[in-house]
Amino acid sequence: DSNQPLKLSVIGCGYLGAVHAASMAELGHEVVGIEVDVEKAEALAAGRVPFFEPGFSELLRRSLDSGRLTFSSDITAARGAAVHFLCVGTPQRRGEYAADLTYVESATAALLDVLGPGELVAGKSTVPVGTAARLAELVAERVPDAVLAWNPEFLREGFAVQDTLHPDRLVYGIPDGAAGEWAADRLDRVYARIVAEDTPKVVTDYATAEMVKTAANSFLATKISFINAMAELCEATGADVKQLADAIGHDDRIGRKFLNAGLGFGGGCLPKDIRAFMARAGELGADQALTFLREVDNINMRRRIRMVELARQVCDDSLLGKRIAVLGAAFKPDSDDIRDSPALNVAAQLQLQGATVRVTDPQAGDNVRKHWSQLDFVETPEEAAENADAVLLLTEWKLYKQLDPAAFGRHVRTRRVLDGRNALDRETWEAAGWTYRALGRRN
Ligand code: UGA
Repeated sequence: DSNQPLKLSVIGCGYLGAVHAASMAELGHEVVGIEVDVEKAEALAAGRVPFFEPGFSELLRRSLDSGRLTFSSDITAARGAAVHFLCVGTPQRRGEYAADLTYVESATAALLDVLGPGELVAGKSTVPVGTAARLAELVAERVPDAVLAWNPEFLREGFAVQDTLHPDRLVYGIPDGAAGEWAADRLDRVYARIVAEDTPKVVTDYATAEMVKTAANSFLATKISFINAMAELCEATGADVKQLADAIGHDDRIGRKFLNAGLGFGGGCLPKDIRAFMARAGELGADQALTFLREVDNINMRRRIRMVELARQVCDDSLLGKRIAVLGAAFKPDSDDIRDSPALNVAAQLQLQGATVRVTDPQAGDNVRKHWSQLDFVETPEEAAENADAVLLLTEWKLYKQLDPAAFGRHVRTRRVLDGRNALDRETWEAAGWTYRALGRRN
């Protein structure tokens, strides 16, 4: 019966795994999350979410209360699951572009010890193309009756629950023949409720499934860098990148989404995924196909430098001894993730150039204090702005967009605001006596 709940395991309960595990329990399955970090496993089991994600803590509690979701640090708890989801991270290797597959390898090795015949291994981690085929061989050698599928995940931080329960599409990378059909059927059973909503589904081979993920993220990164390249030209010509984006975005072939010019992309996915993709293309002798991604990366990094330059310009050409308020530390709003955060990168550069920088963020405080102790973190935008020579908006939290420029202006020494995300309403800030500057817009 295709509506029967299944026993599932989710190996690796970081961001992706924790959300996937709780979402699968929400769909009615019996799920065990396996997490080697004992503290993390215990926190999740107690309903405490180790990161900020809107709506997730409610989902986690609901799934735990239903009795369908448990966590363990012991891989043997995964024994007997109909599907084992591999959800471990693939960070950028230190000092290199390539992805670090250490966690994928250790998780697979651990899983092979408990994997049984008739079970499916479903990879969700973002991996270099070719990884699934290699893992499938390992599975076949150890448990000839088990099958591997590649089932990439497209969730966005800040919308993780919604994206997991109502994805844009399902992608199944499966082997040829009967084993592949069996694997696709089993994934259909896992996602029965999602499949029933007529969610588009692409059933394909391993390599295509792996590439769908990196190609999608490369496209998104390219779209952002495209508009940021236009922003550079707008700065050179006096044109306005926001109006330009609106105007070209009306063409549905282009679309307005992901055309917000500003400080560019950061986070744990886009930057490392395009680099790992270039590294993999190089290994495959196809590096020319992706040389444009190097430019995408360069354009992106130049925005951070430009932001620092703009700050220096408005501060009478010297940052030395100037007080700068930085609003936002997370790589994007509705997240406490500071991995490769453009905001923190800019804050650190300002400090290196002699400015006294105060950073604030509504959610990322703990992470900033832990990983960026050299920066002065304060709780509120008002504290950050106290006597400031300039205020920089670097992550467009709603809270900052809703600031009243007149009242907020009473805290600063000089009313200068630099909008690194093109998120503030220029007129209201100017009307309150602020000098407004932004990336890619008339100054
Ligand atoms: C990204 C993809 O959007 C997801 O589809 C994918 O599943 C995920 O990576 C992943 O690989 O796991 P995420 O990193 O959560 O999701 O964040 P995005 O919403 O894509 O934003 C990435 C960065 O681009 C942020 O720093 C954001 O500020 C920046 N951005 C986004 C812009 O600068 N301009 C835009 O118009 C949009």
